[in-house]
Amino acid sequence: MNLTASTAWKAIEAHGKSLAPVHLREMFTRDPGRVSSLSLRFDGILYDFSKQRVEPATLPLLTALAREARLDEWTARMFGGEKINASEGREVLHVALRRLSGPFPGSACDVMPQVLATRQRMVAFAERLRSGQALGFTGLPIRSVVNIGIGGSDLGPKMVGYALRAISHPTLGVHYVSNLDGAQLAPLLQTLDPRTTMFLVASKTFTTQETMLNAQTARDWLLSNLGDPAAIGKHFAALTAKPERAGEFGIAEEAIFPLWDWVGGRFSLWSAVGLALMIAIGPQAFADLLAGAERMDEHFCNAPYERNLPVIMALLGIWNTNFLGATSNAVLPYNESLKYLPSFLQQLEMESNGKAVGRDGQPLACASNPIVWGELGNNGQHAFFQLLHQGGRLVPCDFIAAVRSDFPLPGHQEALLANCFAQSAALAFGKTSDEARAELSRSMHGTELEELLPHKVFPGNQPSSTLLLSRLDPQNIGALIALYEHKVFVQGVIWGLNSFDQWGVELGKAVANSILPAIGDANLAANLDQSTQDLLTFSRQHLS
Ligand code: F6P
Repeated sequence: MNLTASTAWKAIEAHGKSLAPVHLREMFTRDPGRVSSLSLRFDGILYDFSKQRVEPATLPLLTALAREARLDEWTARMFGGEKINASEGREVLHVALRRLSGPFPGSACDVMPQVLATRQRMVAFAERLRSGQALGFTGLPIRSVVNIGIGGSDLGPKMVGYALRAISHPTLGVHYVSNLDGAQLAPLLQTLDPRTTMFLVASKTFTTQETMLNAQTARDWLLSNLGDPAAIGKHFAALTAKPERAGEFGIAEEAIFPLWDWVGGRFSLWSAVGLALMIAIGPQAFADLLAGAERMDEHFCNAPYERNLPVIMALLGIWNTNFLGATSNAVLPYNESLKYLPSFLQQLEMESNGKAVGRDGQPLACASNPIVWGELGNNGQHAFFQLLHQGGRLVPCDFIAAVRSDFPLPGHQEALLANCFAQSAALAFGKTSDEARAELSRSMHGTELEELLPHKVFPGNQPSSTLLLSRLDPQNIGALIALYEHKVFVQGVIWGLNSFDQWGVELGKAVANSILPAIGDANLAANLDQSTQDLLTFSRQHLS
């Protein structure tokens, strides 16, 4: 469809113009029922989007756009196992991975037998490690697990593992290594005992430079300490869609856990890529995580658009980006345990929908994904919130908090929640010049007051949503991640792009491969651009 020429788009545009002069303050005053119309509940999650710059009347206009984009058909095609990832010729079936029992309805080829069989093997592997029965090459029990992976083979398990660290195994250490920079792996190895360490090499392709180099270094370290290549079989496992490559690396067949082409890296947490997480939190909590995601899948497939969390969240994002002109979206967790959530969502959203060409190969007629960024909200308040409040830029925000704390200290959780709620209110309602003047006039007047006054005004009208979880438990986290996954899918359908490929990451990898040999050999730099040659010259001077 021609999105920006569609009837639905035009109707939203016209509505947007009529709403533009209305401040959030006024919207709240006008409609006392606003919060109940503009909030949704799902199991242990409250989604309050009343501080978005919409009215209840906006929602049917936005949902009409989803209908015009044939969202229902696309959803059925995804869940039905069609090759909707056309540029890679692949199905998109990460949703099958959270089913707790089969068969997976509608899929042309039932993937559940392989999903369930792999999950069973993961459970057995995790249980052996957790119970101390898994022994290393020298007969000592494994005490540390290191997941070596990057992007989708790192961020999901690391993010959830940290979010659920309150229920992590008390003595097993689970670590994540992703960066090529030896400054991550080297200090970690210094703290580990090779006799009691298990490495999980997580890579869908088993070719990713960062992961393969870190895995080789880990293997060298193990062999130099244990002295026998047979040790690899006891200390390495692989999570991959390329088992033959893992075999060539020396990993034993029984320690290779498959995933499949139809799982995108950033959607792979639910697959064997989640093994480190399952080891940390245990198979039952992992199953609860899947159950939470599966509940969100059911909701997404069955709830009417007007009451459908992922659909509404996606449409509000489109409203902010395409009709209000926002270019970024801030993710602000008010929960220390969610500190990796912004990075996880950056990959999920920007690698999926950071595209300017549609499924048909034509340039998109409108902007697609905004820049996703974020930080723990409470820390951000004392760093960059100044710009959110008075910087004059439109920055929609996602506030995310959990009511119950897993690490309660007297007074802390109450203060944290108060700050979270205060920030979204202050951003929405601001402080007018009259209010600021009234406040200042208690302690000053005249020129002094007039000079300070402009600095004390808060324009407000900054849109935000709040996702409030009853607590950070596996079900709620599973539902939260699936919510964002489906948001991404809905937006991709409406923008008319393929959310499941990532060709944009390839060029940089190829260029890095051409530069690498030239770091050591100046003769190989001749064909490189002048800037790169200069950087290499400086590097050679300081490397030697
Ligand atoms: O380069 C980007 C990317 O392919 C991501 O999509 C992926 O999550 C990450 O690299 C890691 O890929 P792999 O699991 O194949 O090592």
